[in-house]
Amino acid sequence: MNGAGGNSTRLVFDDDDDFNDGTPLCSIMFSVSALILVLIVFKIIYERWVTPLSSVPGKFLHSVTSIPMRYHMLRGTLPVFLLALHKEFGPVVRISPQRVSVGDVDMVKHVLGSHSFGKTPSYDMPRVLEPNAFSTRSPDLSQERRRQLAPGFSHRHLLHMEDRIVQCGVSNVDEKLNRICGEKGGGGVVQYNRWFSLIALDTIGVLGFGRKFGALENETHELVPTLVRIRMFSYITMALPWLKLVPSLLGRRLTPLTKLMDFAWQAIAQRRKENNSVVDLLELMMTTDDGLASVGEKRMSDPQIVSETILHLIAGVDTTSAGLTWTMALLLHNPKVMQRLVAEIRGHFPPPSSSAHISFEECRQRLPYLSAVIHESLRVLSPAPGMLPRLAPAGGLRLGGYYLPAGTWICCTIGAVHMNPSAFTDPEVFNPDRFLVGETNSSERFNMLAFSTGVRACLGRNLALVEMHVVLANLLRSWDVRLPAGALPRTTCGGIPEIPRSTMMTMNPDYPDRDCLMVVSPAAAL
Ligand code: HEM
Repeated sequence: MNGAGGNSTRLVFDDDDDFNDGTPLCSIMFSVSALILVLIVFKIIYERWVTPLSSVPGKFLHSVTSIPMRYHMLRGTLPVFLLALHKEFGPVVRISPQRVSVGDVDMVKHVLGSHSFGKTPSYDMPRVLEPNAFSTRSPDLSQERRRQLAPGFSHRHLLHMEDRIVQCGVSNVDEKLNRICGEKGGGGVVQYNRWFSLIALDTIGVLGFGRKFGALENETHELVPTLVRIRMFSYITMALPWLKLVPSLLGRRLTPLTKLMDFAWQAIAQRRKENNSVVDLLELMMTTDDGLASVGEKRMSDPQIVSETILHLIAGVDTTSAGLTWTMALLLHNPKVMQRLVAEIRGHFPPPSSSAHISFEECRQRLPYLSAVIHESLRVLSPAPGMLPRLAPAGGLRLGGYYLPAGTWICCTIGAVHMNPSAFTDPEVFNPDRFLVGETNSSERFNMLAFSTGVRACLGRNLALVEMHVVLANLLRSWDVRLPAGALPRTTCGGIPEIPRSTMMTMNPDYPDRDCLMVVSPAAAL
């Protein structure tokens, strides 16, 4: 036997021989492979060293492929991935061949501040649905829709609707807790993220549909699984847009959407039949003109109302419930903050002897620490911390010293802004005091972007804040809450709970049945 080296040399030589004598198919395959290889090499060279974006700092791999970014999107770890990149490379970082992420507060405010930076195609809704206030990429339609919807989310209107919000988020909660605590003789265990999600759904039910969903009462609602599926499919197709081309997947995405559309159509039909005395969101949409006298009576069409109604469910339930969930988690894991907050609430509003509830106006005027806690938790654990992508305008621009050509996806990464020391002192510390007016660095209040900012900022901000204030103030006034026995507070050194979480549009706990439990008992005297 000859040596191994001799054999292998012969083998390679034979292979080459076979190839040279090969069929046309082999030779085509070789040419195609070679062409693909050349194209890949060309693309790598172009993306890394030639395109204007090549000067933006970042990892080599991210400049030539979007796979790592998409992988983190699908795993729900995008905010963690982006934050780590910003810590390593600074306020502007390249995250894919076409995309940069921005984590500086002034740059983000600049990009989100005008319609010159349009929303990216990732916002497009499936064709069955009219574009809505969230999805539209047209500045004109966005402005028109915001004018039409804004009255429904104004403080004045919400004040008018407060009794209904209180019914969902306070009276129903008290009733349920009274029952649980009565049965168990003292305290009961509640999975709070689930309750908050049902409360948020009930609230949209009464405000947006004029209907009592009874979700908290029954601990579920037919829309709960539908909304989860829509969120998942929308998110997955945002990460992998070409999946929209697979008909069977598209069908699976559309099924829950169709269900939601049926629900909205029924609500409109029902409303036409009944004589509604309360002006809720649905009523406003069905009677609104576009707010400009010169344009005249421009009513929203029924398909447009359906699309907006669905949006309220998708945009308003998960986000608000995540806001409440993370605020409660932060409080339970930071007992000193909890004690101070309970003392503030019960100092002004002792545990109730009557059924009068604490109103939002009272929260605003007399409970500054509650507001500070809510704003700080929206900062450290933002319900939607991900990237808000916008397109660089025609002609491109310079941002943070880098030239970004037209069409670059500029991702405004809220989570990175909130952890940037140039926007917040000791950003990784949970410190509600930073949001108290008159505290040292009160400009930090204006850097909190959990609701986005500028021309496409969250339309439901007021509603979410009313809900969060009223629910927490009344819950902590009447009920003592604590972690279950044996569940010690586990936090980072900055006081942020070490609860595994992932972000698919909104940030949610991975194991809520383990990590989101609290023991509730009737309030003890202070
Ligand atoms: C704590 C609760 C909430 C948070 C943190 C939140 C956050 C956000 C963020 C970050 C955006 C910008 C998204 C983007 O540009 O990609 C947004 C937009 C929006 N949100 Fe909210 N949201 C909350 C509650 C609500 C509620 C309750 C509603 C309505 C029922 C709502 C309706 C909307 C709408 C319509 C937009 C699109 C605005 C536009 O593009 O002009 N949100 N929200």
